Amino acid sequence: MTYVTQLPTQTTPFANLHAHHGRALDRPLTLAVAGAGARGTGYLELAERAETPVRITAIAEPRTARRTALALRHGVPDDARFADWRELAARPRLADAVVVAVQDAQHLEAAQAFAALGYDLLLEKPMALSAEDVDAIAAAAQQGGVSLTVCHVMRYAPYTRRLKEFLDAGRIGDIVSVQHLEPIGYWHYAHSFVRGNWRRTDESTFALLSKSCHDIDWLSHIVGRPVRAVSSFGSLRHFRPENAPAGSTERCLDCPLAQRSCPYAAQKLYQVGLREGGVKQYFTRIAAEELTEEAVDQALRTGPYGRCVYRSDNDVVDHQVVNLEYEGGITAAFTLTAFTPQENRHTKIFGTRGQLTGDGRTIEIYDFATDERTVVDTDNGGSSAAEGHGGGDEGLMSAFLRALHEGRPGLLLTGAQESRDTHRIVFAAEHARRTGQVVHL
Ligand SMILES: NC(=O)c1ccc[n+]([C@@H]2O[C@H](COP(=O)([O-])OP(=O)(O)OC[C@H]3O[C@@H](n4cnc5c(N)ncnc54)[C@H](O)[C@@H]3O)[C@@H](O)[C@H]2O)c1
Repeated sequence: MTYVTQLPTQTTPFANLHAHHGRALDRPLTLAVAGAGARGTGYLELAERAETPVRITAIAEPRTARRTALALRHGVPDDARFADWRELAARPRLADAVVVAVQDAQHLEAAQAFAALGYDLLLEKPMALSAEDVDAIAAAAQQGGVSLTVCHVMRYAPYTRRLKEFLDAGRIGDIVSVQHLEPIGYWHYAHSFVRGNWRRTDESTFALLSKSCHDIDWLSHIVGRPVRAVSSFGSLRHFRPENAPAGSTERCLDCPLAQRSCPYAAQKLYQVGLREGGVKQYFTRIAAEELTEEAVDQALRTGPYGRCVYRSDNDVVDHQVVNLEYEGGITAAFTLTAFTPQENRHTKIFGTRGQLTGDGRTIEIYDFATDERTVVDTDNGGSSAAEGHGGGDEGLMSAFLRALHEGRPGLLLTGAQESRDTHRIVFAAEHARRTGQVVHL
């Protein structure tokens, strides 16, 4: 298997512009949404709040109540509401662009169909589930003559923009190495990767792709060079039946340990989310049909989110390290792990003239020439999806809408070619983990 990266040849994020690009539209941009789940709904809300004039002209979402509520809110007519993205794709194009926010396994087919119809694409990450499918999506966008923007929201966060400005201005000299941590958080991990949508490789994909294609993409953005070689180790160490404590039961609601000693008890996440709000409520909304005691109780009694974390059917890793060598001998060490509190990503960037330390909000620069520290607070809140990725979700949506409406592709930082390349690094890293080899790109 070969994994080609071509970062230096990427000059513009839009290789193929839709016919109307290059000049501003004199009407609102029109948008369709395929998959109005957590992400699709979030993008609709951001579009509603955006300064760019936008009209939502079509929604495809199988859950009737949700589809109807969103359609009413955004003024989508009856004949542009669909229970399946395929029904939308069976019609002539109903919008300038489509947000593809269905689950990972559907991205390929949906992106290909909408590209062929001439929709500009805002495609959720991961682009697709194999290197070949990622290539096929990039090719479909090229053949359809449409733009393809992948939702690598971390690039668009004000924190990242500021951090990149410091690096580009040479504040720490040349980058030599990077240490980057994705502290998923013990209950967030249990929700998504033990009980939830990303727990099984065969139903979704491996954890490095589903969670940290963001991080590998972000590192490429920060380092600004192609990866030459990658190695990786990691496994599912803890959330396995043999680690179930004595006396624990299949479901948390029946479990004597849930109220006493189990850190992963479903009540601690979903009932607290219901009663106290905050970030945990975002997860309670996903687990339960409604935000009521009865609905949460029902979800924990019968649904996947009430299962004991030691008795689920999960198989994705709970910790993984990836070592990367970039062109010019720059190195990066990346860790993803379940076993942390809910925190932002942490990064240290080691340069020839200084060190930059970042936590998703605060950036500290230590200057070796003066031994002085500069601290900048970029004040963007948390870095999780629930918190909008520290302004990254908003930054992405704003850039996407403006790029299309104003005909300014340069506003976008995540085009087809570059996203294809950074996804390929992720597939190479997973290959390295599975085989124990160093993979050369
Ligand atoms: N950019 C990020 O940081 C980020 C964060 C979380 C998730 N994601 C990605 O976003 C995508 C969506 O994730 P989510 O958390 O919103 O999941 P979700 O399950 O909440 O949303 C998916 C939606 O698609 C709908 N759907 C299913 N089949 C459909 C069909 N045939 N036609 C139309 N709609 C259909 C579902 O009913 C659901 O509402 C995934 O690919 C996920 O990996 C990205």
